[in-house]
Amino acid sequence: MIKIKGVTKTFGVGADRVNALTPVDMHIEKGEFIAIVGPSGCGKSTLLRLIAGLEDVTDGSIDLGSKDKKRPVGFVFQDAVLLPWKTVAENIRFPLDTSAVPRSVSDAKVAELIALIGLTGFERALPKQLSGGMRQRAAIARALADDPPILLMDEPFSAVDLLTRETLNDELLKIWEQTGKTIVLVTHSVEEAAYLGTRVMVMSARPGRLRKTFKADIPQPRSEETKRDPRYLDLVSELRTMMREPVL
Ligand SMILES: Nc1ncnc2c1ncn2[C@@H]1O[C@H](COP(=O)(O)OP(=O)(O)OP(=O)(O)O)[C@@H](O)[C@H]1O
Ligand SMILES: [Mg+2]
Repeated sequence: MIKIKGVTKTFGVGADRVNALTPVDMHIEKGEFIAIVGPSGCGKSTLLRLIAGLEDVTDGSIDLGSKDKKRPVGFVFQDAVLLPWKTVAENIRFPLDTSAVPRSVSDAKVAELIALIGLTGFERALPKQLSGGMRQRAAIARALADDPPILLMDEPFSAVDLLTRETLNDELLKIWEQTGKTIVLVTHSVEEAAYLGTRVMVMSARPGRLRKTFKADIPQPRSEETKRDPRYLDLVSELRTMMREPVL
């Protein structure tokens, strides 16, 4: 589904040159939920932006297994970037406006997404009338609007409180189960990574590279019970240890 081969990214030239990523190789299967953790500045956002095609690779290649011209990805940013003058429903519809989707079809799709992400009753609200968690829900719905097989999420829940975050995690898992999307999510939280991921990838900084991949061998579907499962607790502690260890 996603084949990343020898991808590097360098920003700037001369003295300002930054090697953001040294060769990264990664194979992600259809329907996987990949969580990526790593220290600040290790290139997590850069990697997502490269997969999304928002940025060009310096070297290497990224194959998304699609021959369409349109990139088959939806992107959710850390801070929900909603258009402030558009309602929730209009924001979610936005990616469909630019494609040749008939209005009746996009109406049905928007209604379905609003139900899926639990914003029923807020269709006509403006972003400023929503809480942070609700804005992030709307951003997720918008990323899903044109039904991309891949969903990329860059620290989507870091700006909401812990309880809301746990609720959004469970909702995201439900969406993942219902839609079969391939999800790549960046987070600073090792607990969140272990709870959500089918695999957890740890990156290291300077220069950014993939340090280790852990298979999250924890039963699905995940639930509150997962948080007491020794396999989850072991993975969290392994991840934490690795994040603390200096890279040799
Ligand atoms: N447009 C840019 N121009 C120059 N340097 C950049 C640019 N974007 C990122 N970088 C550099 O590339 C490196 C990786 O940045 P990136 O934002 O991918 O890190 P990150 O892992 O997402 O960090 P954080 O956890 O803080 O979000 C950093 O050293 C950053 O300064
Ligand atoms: Mg980042």
